[in-house]
Amino acid sequence: MRAESTIRPTEVVADARALMDAEAGVLAVPFSPGDDDGAQVRLGAGGDTVSAALGLDLAVVLDRERAKARAGEIVSVPVFEAGRGAGSPDGEVDVTKVLLVGLGDRSPGAFRKAGAAVARAARGTERLATSVAVDADDASLRAFIEGAVLATYALGDYRGSAVPGEKRPLRTLVLTGAGDRSQAVTVAATIAKATWTARDLVHTPSNVKDPAWLAEQARGIGDAHRLDVRVRDEKALASEGFGGIVAVGAGSQRPPRLIAMRYEPKRARSPHVVLVGKGITYDSGGLSLKPREAMVPMKTDMSGGAVVMGVLSAVRELGVGVRVTGLVAAAENLPGATAQRPGDVIRQYDGTSVEVINTDAEGRLVLADAMAYAVAELEPTVLIDVATLTGAATIGLGRSHAALYSTSDGLAAALTAAGDSAGERLWRMPLVDDYRFALDSAIADIAHVETTKVGGGSITAALFLQRFARDVTWAHLDIAGTGRADSASGELVKGGTAFGVRALLYWLEAGAPLDEG
Ligand code: BES
Ligand code: MN
Ligand code: ZN
Repeated sequence: MRAESTIRPTEVVADARALMDAEAGVLAVPFSPGDDDGAQVRLGAGGDTVSAALGLDLAVVLDRERAKARAGEIVSVPVFEAGRGAGSPDGEVDVTKVLLVGLGDRSPGAFRKAGAAVARAARGTERLATSVAVDADDASLRAFIEGAVLATYALGDYRGSAVPGEKRPLRTLVLTGAGDRSQAVTVAATIAKATWTARDLVHTPSNVKDPAWLAEQARGIGDAHRLDVRVRDEKALASEGFGGIVAVGAGSQRPPRLIAMRYEPKRARSPHVVLVGKGITYDSGGLSLKPREAMVPMKTDMSGGAVVMGVLSAVRELGVGVRVTGLVAAAENLPGATAQRPGDVIRQYDGTSVEVINTDAEGRLVLADAMAYAVAELEPTVLIDVATLTGAATIGLGRSHAALYSTSDGLAAALTAAGDSAGERLWRMPLVDDYRFALDSAIADIAHVETTKVGGGSITAALFLQRFARDVTWAHLDIAGTGRADSASGELVKGGTAFGVRALLYWLEAGAPLDEG
């Protein structure tokens, strides 16, 4: 079955020319809140030339519309006769529409919203040129592009025919006056594409994606981006002692996999970042079965793994200077006849025995194996896991902030800063010492969920994982809330967000710092 979206992301190009010469049928002109001279709003770069060339007064249009220049506000201006042939110097391209786009407070976040709004308004368009780059620094330009490429994400569909009236994403986004900005443009487009790749994996239904399928996708990414990919099948996992991954996968006829993707930069510097992703290709809860409504979105329970794969798909193109290994612990959590039972005791990769109390707390069992393996075999300097781990994270923080845990203040600060720049907000949560006893087991080294009620389900999950990081600098991202969006908003579409790809890539691109920098 199809491995990737049948819908192509918008292509982004930096262009040295001016807006009127860019051979585009749709033009996007920015506008900003007015200064204190009384003007409500102010037309941005290119506004006057476009007005003159098309015989429109765009400033008057904004005034009539009582436009406020909120970030992502769009005023759409259809162009009639005067636009004929105006979109190119030789008079061959018709300008049919001008989109006036509000830049709000002109922060990168506002530019991200503006990019998303332009892309939504430009669905079905072949080529759109915009002058926003002229008014944007590199951080804002990148945010605009990420917003524009990601807002129209779609997997394509499994329908026999297209939805009537549904329009494809803008095909080409031209950034005029940005001839010398191609570096920033390429970086942004690469990061957006990596997110797109991860979203494809998340949106794929679970009758198509099983652990073996996910491993095939990793091989494909490895081939395309010159990464070393190694996959352990169920036999290798059992014989090498990956007891958590084996136990979680035992209830499904589609066996588990551990996927390892390795990136070596040209001139490797010493740090080695290992990223671990939860790759539950479907989470029914296992014998501790979920209620039926709770099961519906659970094809997205491999989001952490998808994020890791998305990140690995971009590190070479971004020229990341540190070594990066991605591990995806992939299993399908089903209640088959051979499934693990509540009350079982299993052995993790590092020898820790774990009393399994609730088979629906499966994520930490597969992550623990992968983390322990990384610590024992890969000599990581930094270990970061990403997982849709607990409903409690969503209860605590909602859908806009991911829960971040770390044993290092510096790493926590650096990841938070990267997330802020990337438009993915992380909120640090405590690894509460006083709650550790809750994981005591009467029969094994540790239980995987609380045996005494302390609450804080996202925290106790993190405490369980912490044990397997040993003394390696570690961070944990619980993306259960942020991994899915209930509706389209900004650069997100309904469904999987692939939250984490951008924050991690911003952090890696900065050299994987251990302080705020
Ligand atoms: N995959 C779920 C967490 C989840 C829930 C992600 C909702 C996204 C949306 C995870 O495997 C799980 O079931 N966690 C349990 C843990 C509990 C049994 C200790 C939970 O959060 O209820
Ligand atoms: Mn579960
Ligand atoms: Zn799960």
